[in-house]
Amino acid sequence: MVASRSGPYPIRVGSGIRERIPDWLVEMGFPVTRKVALISNTTVRAIHGKTVSDSLEARGFPVRPFDFPDGESFKTLDSVRECLDLLLASKWERQNPVLALGGGVVGDMGGFVASILLRGVPLFHIPTTVVGQVDSSIGGKTGVDHREGKNLIGSFYPPRSVWIDPSFLETLPLRERRSGLGEVIKYALIGDQKLLRFLDDNLESLSGEPFDRDAWEETIFLCASDKARIVSEDERESGVRMNLNFGHTFGHALEGAMGYDGILHGEAVGLGMIAAARIAKSLGITGSETEGMIRRYLKRAHLPDRWPEQITFADLEPFLKNDKKASSGLVTLILPVRPGEVVRTRDYEPSVLGSGLD
Ligand SMILES: NC(=O)c1ccc[n+]([C@@H]2O[C@H](COP(=O)([O-])OP(=O)(O)OC[C@H]3O[C@@H](n4cnc5c(N)ncnc54)[C@H](O)[C@@H]3O)[C@@H](O)[C@H]2O)c1
Ligand SMILES: [Zn+2]
Repeated sequence: MVASRSGPYPIRVGSGIRERIPDWLVEMGFPVTRKVALISNTTVRAIHGKTVSDSLEARGFPVRPFDFPDGESFKTLDSVRECLDLLLASKWERQNPVLALGGGVVGDMGGFVASILLRGVPLFHIPTTVVGQVDSSIGGKTGVDHREGKNLIGSFYPPRSVWIDPSFLETLPLRERRSGLGEVIKYALIGDQKLLRFLDDNLESLSGEPFDRDAWEETIFLCASDKARIVSEDERESGVRMNLNFGHTFGHALEGAMGYDGILHGEAVGLGMIAAARIAKSLGITGSETEGMIRRYLKRAHLPDRWPEQITFADLEPFLKNDKKASSGLVTLILPVRPGEVVRTRDYEPSVLGSGLD
């Protein structure tokens, strides 16, 4: 269960969840005559859309499909408007639910559509990427990008439920799956000792082929539970939820400096955690072993553990200053102390940020 301002909502995790979606809709009070929007993107629709929509239709639910084009560059108000146009043209009613089937991009846009359509219709997340399953589907943040920056338009809109089936990850490209491990390692390092021990034993099989369903199921369960607990405690990100940004200040800046090209989010977060460890060392918050420890986890996950040579601190600076979390020009840094413990600090000289890069 996740606590939110508009009441608690359940999260279900397990292989086979996807076959039971129609049952749960019924269980949650939706009669089988109710129209259901299945929002996805062209890639996910081609792989998983048919089985999900067939099972809904077999149960009696009329399904209205809508697909965004694939990619972060389509996470825009224009895409959202197209989806709204289609649903409004089919005389959408306030009781008709929206199901968002896909990665974080689909989830953020599908969630935003649900939050503004008729001032809010019931939303269900069915995440199909690692990021979707351990992060974006839980916590109620929705939205789109703007030319001024990422995620600048949006809403807090908790779903009615989140249905997480780790077996969706089997079809994810290997590099995407490994990138997701960047976020998984983050959860372990910010406080999940059980996950940390699990990764110590299983990181190779999680990052390798073939897809290890059992290991992924356990990993997703632990991370999703962490996220659920953290956002329940701090929905609006005034305290402990900020810890989830570990690795993200430099990670986002790196993605920005590279023009969101050639680096995946989880890869950038991994390098951001190294930067945080170096800064923590400069501030005397942690020892020099922390950077090496993080590098070893990244290596075992087949993630980059060295900054791209062409990126200098000067390239990152404008992005560090524009960080959404910066108030009066100073970003709250999330710094590692030891494995499983981080601290938040705004007490530093801006010049120390330069020590993040090697
Ligand atoms: N709302 C939040 O709290 C939150 C948190 C973290 C990230 N996000 C957002 O999430 C987005 C990133 O999400 P992402 O990493 O999932 O990227 P994504 O949604 O772009 O998905 C990555 C790629 O995998 C494909 N894909 C998805 N599921 C698949 C499957 N099962 N098999 C094969 N291919 C599949 C997608 O089509 C896409 O090409 C960003 O826009 C970010 O801002 C939001
Ligand atoms: Zn992230």
